[in-house]
Order: sequence, then C-alpha cells, then structure tokens
Amino acid sequence: MKIDTWVVHEHLDGVPDVERMYRKVTEEVAVDLADDEMLLRTRYVSVDPYLHGIALDTPLGDHMGADSVMEVVEAGPRARFAVGDLVQGFGGWRSHLVSTGAPQTWTGTFPMVFPAYRRLDPADYDDVLPLSTALGVLGGSGMTAWGTMTKFLTVRPGDTVVVSGASGQVGSLVGQLAKRAGARVVGTTGTPEKAAHLAQLGFDEVLEYRHGDDPDAVREMLAKAAPDGVDTYFDNLGGDFTDTVFGMLNVGSRVAVSWQWSSQVGQEWYGPRLLNHIMFPRTTIRGIFAPEWFTEDNWAALHADLGGAIRRGEIAYRQTVHSGFDGIPAAYRSLYTDRAGSRGKVLVEL
Ligand SMILES: NC(=O)c1ccc[n+]([C@@H]2O[C@H](COP(=O)([O-])OP(=O)(O)OC[C@H]3O[C@@H](n4cnc5c(N)ncnc54)[C@H](OP(=O)(O)O)[C@@H]3O)[C@@H](O)[C@H]2O)c1
Repeated sequence: MKIDTWVVHEHLDGVPDVERMYRKVTEEVAVDLADDEMLLRTRYVSVDPYLHGIALDTPLGDHMGADSVMEVVEAGPRARFAVGDLVQGFGGWRSHLVSTGAPQTWTGTFPMVFPAYRRLDPADYDDVLPLSTALGVLGGSGMTAWGTMTKFLTVRPGDTVVVSGASGQVGSLVGQLAKRAGARVVGTTGTPEKAAHLAQLGFDEVLEYRHGDDPDAVREMLAKAAPDGVDTYFDNLGGDFTDTVFGMLNVGSRVAVSWQWSSQVGQEWYGPRLLNHIMFPRTTIRGIFAPEWFTEDNWAALHADLGGAIRRGEIAYRQTVHSGFDGIPAAYRSLYTDRAGSRGKVLVEL
C-alpha cells in the first residue's frame, strides 16, 4: 500500500521555513503486521508551537512527530485495539503507520515518554464537540488549561489573573476558567483582530502585545490593566511581558509556565534575574507539562467538567481545521505567519 510521510529534511531554528525543513516521502509498503501491531490510518493531525523543538531533535530523514487521531484499519491478534477503533496518540505527520500503540521514549533535548495511544469513545463526540476536539479542547490543549487550573492555580474570586498569549486554545480556556472562578482576567494577543473575540469570551482587559514592543509601554499598559497587581500568571510567551508581570506579583502569587515563545522561537533568553521578584511576594512558580495529567481518570474528568461547561454554553472554544495531507507544513507555518487567519486550535483533517 502507499504511505505518505512528512520527514524532517533540514534542522532550522527560528520561525519555521517549512519548504526547507520538511520533505514529503511516498513509499509503497508491504504491510506485514506482528501479532501486537496495528495498521492505523490518520484522520487528524495537530500542529502546535512545541513541534519546533521536536523537529530540531528529530534525526534527518525521520518522520515528523505530532499528536494525531487515527483509525485502526488492520490489527494483529494480540493488538491493543481492534479494527475500527479510533485512537489518539503521537502518530505524527503520516497518512498511515504501523504501531503497537505502546508508550515511546523520546531522547531529545528534554527526554520524555510519549504516552500510550488511548481509545476514543465515539459516544463522547458529536456536533458540539466533534472528534477533532480530541486534539484540542478535549485533548492536550484542554488538559493543559484544565489541569493547570484544577491542580495548581487556585483562583479566588476577585483575584487578578493574567494570561499571556491568550488568544490560542490554551490561553482562551485558561482565561474563561479563571473568569468562571470569579477572577478579573487580563489577556494578551499580538493580533488586533483577536481582541474583540477575547472580550466576548469574558476577558476584562485585552492587551495588544508582540515581542519587541517597548518595555516601558508594556509596563504602563499592564499597570493600568492590573492596578491591584497580579495574583496569578499563566505564561505562554516569556519575554518582556513576563519580565513586567514579575515586577507586579502580589503576596502568595502563583505563576504557571506553559511556554516561552521568546526563548524557544525568538532565541532571546530572559529569566534568572527575575528571582528577586518572587522572594517578598512568596510566589510559587511551576512548570507545566500536560502529559503528566494524561490518565484515564483525568480524561474522564476533563470530558465531564470542561466538556460539560462547553455543552451548557458556559465556555466557548474554536478551532481552525485545514485539510489535506499536503497542507500539513503550511498549517504548521500558519501558527507563526498567519495568526490573524486562525482561531483556537489549529489542526489538519486528512
Ligand atoms: N506546557 C505544556 O504542557 C503545554 C501543552 C500544550 C501547549 N503548550 C504551549 O502553550 C502555548 C499555547 O498553546 P496554544 O495551543 O494556545 O497555541 P496557539 O494557539 O498557537 O497560541 C499562541 C499564542 O501566542 C501568541 N504569540 C505567538 N507569537 C507571538 C509573538 N511573537 N508575540 C506575541 N504573542 C505571540 C499568539 O498571539 P496572537 O493572538 O497574535 O495569535 C497566541 O495568543 C503554545 O506555545 C504551546 O506550545 C504547552
């Protein structure tokens, strides 16, 4: 059978030049499954900012990894799932793949284990929350937001919560969950077209911020938006915005570090000099690594709590679905170069 794969062709830093970084390879493959293996057909693949690091750590010529939803089309007698099952896992930018669905060790810059594939129950998905949300609001990004809010960031009514990079799937959920807990919520977007949307979601203040903005202007803008200081900061960006927030942290404040766009993509390192800002306010800072919450219990709770709130119309989500295998690299590039064109989770339907 014919299998299409996007492989990593060149290691390039900065905003991804996808024409050079990836090559499509089409192979005629004779599938001969071991007893515990499955042939899976990819239905949806996710594109995420963190794939930047995955691409740099992937040996040249290997397939590009990514979160995906797949359907089992053939299965060995001892396979983990049955023909017709829908599963989610780190299947990558591949039209089809052969896998056991077992956890996979990753030996990149940050060694980790990609969790075992999990079976998706079709009864959990419908028009309100379609299957594609298993990669978004009911998948990794939903778990990042919901997990952080339920397991680390206790938000009290009246708290000031600041979310940088708030317009994406993760930030917009964090902001809405904080609002639901009674906080005053301040979010940033680098794209003016998205400000009205964040206001509609209930953000009390929406700040326009892009890396490179004048730090004094950023400080003035944030001081106006958060006149009582910052109790909780969900950091998606790093950079000057984060530096400014650190100077405004209240006693007992909490900081969740979800991503550092500034250093991961912008190659500018900020940070340790900020530690003096956490001493007097006794701030707790925690790195976020959502896969630690990828358990069956947490998936069920995410469906019930976040999924339930969405079904009741209390929380909104959006997604931007590109289509076609050949369009995967361009969809990925759009995260960096066409931010005005996307809303919420960006993914590709094959
Ligand atoms: N730690 C974890 O376990 C974990 C898990 C999932 C995701 N993440 C990370 O969390 C972050 C948010 O995820 P997501 O799915 O919500 O991503 P997303 O939809 O791509 O949103 C990214 C946000 O960053 C902003 N942004 C991008 N480049 C910027 C720049 N140069 N200057 C200022 N703002 C910029 C975007 O602003 P615009 O408003 O202009 O579009 C947007 O609000 C991602 O970076 C992702 O890798 C972490």
